[in-house]
Amino acid sequence: MPAFKRHIFVCTNQRSPEDPRGSCSNRGSESLHARFKQEAKRLNLKNIVRANKAGCLDHCELGPSVVIYPEGVWYSVKSEGDVTEIMERHILKGEVVTRLLMPDHPVPVKLPPLIS
Ligand code: FES
Repeated sequence: MPAFKRHIFVCTNQRSPEDPRGSCSNRGSESLHARFKQEAKRLNLKNIVRANKAGCLDHCELGPSVVIYPEGVWYSVKSEGDVTEIMERHILKGEVVTRLLMPDHPVPVKLPPLIS
């Protein structure tokens, strides 16, 4: 059984397009989740990092919503390029991608790199 060092939760909740809260799935989070998985494979992190689909993370207006544990860093992820940046900077180097942080979460201290 793999011992994952990071879990990346991607909200893929879907609501009706008429719902005023919107939803991450309607903003493309399914393909972003797939991209996280592709990037984990590309970076040879498949047994170290797990990208999971999640239900609503209660940050709908800021979505697509992503949270990474164990450090508890919350991101608004808008593009596949954002996914690549998170994987290469946050996961590999332990750098918080500050431009993608959700505004209602404090900036955490520097993270330990996954691979040195
Ligand atoms: S629908 Fe994604 S955080 Fe609520």
